[in-house]
Amino acid sequence: MVIKTAEFVKSATRPDQYVPAELPEVAFVGRSNVGKSSLINVLVNRKALVRTSSTPGRTQLINFFVINGSFYTVDLPGYGFAKVPLSVKRQWGPMIRTYLEQRPTLKAVVFILDIRRTPQEEDLQMLDWLEEFGVPTIPVITKIDKVKRRELDGGLKRIAEATGLSPDAFTLFSASSRTGREEIWERIEDAFGTSAE
Ligand code: GTP
Ligand code: MG
Repeated sequence: MVIKTAEFVKSATRPDQYVPAELPEVAFVGRSNVGKSSLINVLVNRKALVRTSSTPGRTQLINFFVINGSFYTVDLPGYGFAKVPLSVKRQWGPMIRTYLEQRPTLKAVVFILDIRRTPQEEDLQMLDWLEEFGVPTIPVITKIDKVKRRELDGGLKRIAEATGLSPDAFTLFSASSRTGREEIWERIEDAFGTSAE
């Protein structure tokens, strides 16, 4: 994937605020602080297209970015952050479900887990929703630079068991080393059904 342009378009909470459904789209989901924004920045070769932070739960909106003028990447708000106000938490489920259910141009969701963490209830619920709405899912395990080889094998096994997915289903990724970047692009391009130039 050659990235020529990458631009923020807009933030939304409701369908009438989404960008027009005129281009293929790939969205990124995962627990707050899992590394969604960092992963998108690595994919599009931008240091800070998407704001990253060490304070979890900063991104509470659905953020649309247009790449090469030919497709959208969507940074979805993270789940599982304790300090988010209750009112925001209550809105999160309907906001995400509505997006997953009603977005006609959504071709795939990159579902992100942390190699060091056992998937939690919200992660499993997200997998259920993706299945319920028939959204093609690209499972990714990130932050693999943070563990040694043996912990990597153990983490992968633990995550595969908890999710019921095959260990082979996961692309291993690191935003620091950029390991896995090409493989994720290949899987996104497959989901788009073309090479997304
Ligand atoms: P929210 O938007 O708050 O839900 O978080 P997020 O999922 O977008 O996570 P973000 O990309 O902001 O990353 C959270 C923290 O993890 C930041 O301090 C990143 O620098 C760090 N981080 C993300 N990916 C990696 C990685 O692959 N390796 C390492 N070592 N750190 C990472
Ligand atoms: Mg983020």
